[in-house]
Amino acid sequence: MSSALIQTKSYPTWNSRWVFIMAATGSAVGLGNIWKFPYITGENGGGAFVLVYLVCILLLGIPVMVAEVMLGRRGRQSPVATMRQLTNEAGLHGFWNSIGWLGVVAGLFILSYYSVIAGWALAYIPEMGRGTFQGAGAAETQLFFDTLLADKGRLLAWQSLFMLMTVAVVACGVVKGLGVAVRILMPLLFVLLLAMLVFAYRHGDFAAAAEFLFRPDFSALTGRSVLEALGHSFFTLSLGMGAIMAYGAYMPADTSIGKTVLTVAFLDTLVALMAGMAIFPIVFANPSIHPGAGPELLFVSLPVAFGAMPGGLLVGMMFFILITIAAWSSAISLIEPGVAWLIERRGFNRFTANISLGFIAWALGLGTVLSFNDWSGFTLGGFTFFGAMDFLTSRIMLPLTGLFIAIFVGWVLPQMTAKSELNGEGSRFYPLWLWVLRYICPPAIGVVLLVGLYDTFAAVS
Ligand code: TRP
Repeated sequence: MSSALIQTKSYPTWNSRWVFIMAATGSAVGLGNIWKFPYITGENGGGAFVLVYLVCILLLGIPVMVAEVMLGRRGRQSPVATMRQLTNEAGLHGFWNSIGWLGVVAGLFILSYYSVIAGWALAYIPEMGRGTFQGAGAAETQLFFDTLLADKGRLLAWQSLFMLMTVAVVACGVVKGLGVAVRILMPLLFVLLLAMLVFAYRHGDFAAAAEFLFRPDFSALTGRSVLEALGHSFFTLSLGMGAIMAYGAYMPADTSIGKTVLTVAFLDTLVALMAGMAIFPIVFANPSIHPGAGPELLFVSLPVAFGAMPGGLLVGMMFFILITIAAWSSAISLIEPGVAWLIERRGFNRFTANISLGFIAWALGLGTVLSFNDWSGFTLGGFTFFGAMDFLTSRIMLPLTGLFIAIFVGWVLPQMTAKSELNGEGSRFYPLWLWVLRYICPPAIGVVLLVGLYDTFAAVS
C-alpha cells in the first residue's frame, strides 16, 4: 500500500482516485449502515423515514461532502490546520476555525460509543463459532443479548479490545495499516450481505420487509424523525467532523471530486439498504422481534437466521468478523483528524497523540458501557448516557458542523477557491452544486435542526 503514496513537494497524495474511494468508503460504511440504519428505520416507522433519509443524502449529504473534500484538498493539512489556514488567507473571522475543533471533539464522542457497539459484534464472533445460536429462536437470541449487556465486565473487555485494535492501526499510519483490509475485506462484506439477502428472501417475510421499507407512511413521521434522518445522513457519510476533510487532503489534484463523492455515497447507501433488506424479512417472520426494538435489532434478529441456515454458524462468524472490520475502518477515521492535529500543532509524535486520544475515547466509553446495566435507570431528559452521546453527536454536532461548512464554502470563502479546486468537473456540475450549497443546504439544515430541537425539548419537558 505504501507504493500508493507518491511524495509531492509538500504533502503525500494517493496515486489514484480509487485509493481515495476505498478509504472514504471504508470510513463511510460501518456500524452506521449495518447496525444503526436498520434500527432507526424501525423506530421511525419505515418507508417515510427511508425516503427522507434518501432525500437528505442527495440534497444535503452529497453537496456537503463535496465541500468537505474540496476544503481538505485545498488545505492539505489536518482539518483544524486547514480551517485555520483558509480563514487566515481569506482574512476571515476565527469563528470558522470551530469547524475543525467541533470535529475533533465530535469524533472522540462518537468513537466512545462506537467502540462499545463494535465490541458487541466482537463478542458475537466466538459465540457463533461455539454454536450458541444453533437452532435458536428469537427468545433465545434475545436472552443472550440481554445477558451480554447486563455483564459490564464482558462489555468492557470487548470495548477495550476494539479500542486497542483501532489505536494499533492508527499508530502504524492510516495508509499502510488500512489499505489492505479495505481493499480485500470490503468486497467480501458486500458478498456476504448478498448471501444474507438471498437467505432473507427464501426464509423470511421479504414482501413485508419491502413494504415496510419502501412504502412511505407519512403519519409515522415527526420533526424528530426528520432530524434523525438528517443527522444519520451525515453520520453514515462520515460528514461534519473532518474525517472526509482529512482524507481529501490526500487526494490527487487532478481527480474529479464530484464523481468520486457520488461513487462513495452510492456505495454507502447501497450497503445500508441491503442491510435493511437482510434484517427486516427476518424481523417480520418472527413476531417476537419488534421492528422498533432499538439498538439490539441486528443482534437479536440475525442470529436467528444464522442458527437456522445450513452452514449458518460459519456464515454468522464471517458476518460478525466483517462487521467488526467495517467498524474498524470507520473508527480509524474518527480518531485520525485529532491525531493529525496533535502531531502538526502540538508537537506530539504519532504514538503519544494516538494513545492519548484513544484513552479519552475509551474512558468516555465507560459511560456507554454502564448505561446498559448499572446506570440504565439513570437518565437525563429521557436519555441514558449512550442516548445522550448519540443525540449530541449525530443530531446536533454533525448537522451543525455541516451547516457551518455549507455557509462557509457557499457564502464566505472566496469563490475562486472552490472554483479552482472543482475545475474540470464539467460545466453543469459546478453551478448546480454551488446553488444547492448556498440556497438549499443552509436553510434546510437550519430548519430541521431548529424544529427537531424544539420537538425534542417539548417531548422531554
Ligand atoms: N460513517 C461511519 C458509519 O456509518 C461512522 C463514522 C466514521 C463517522 N467516521 C465518521 C461518523 C465521521 C461521523 C463522522 O458507521
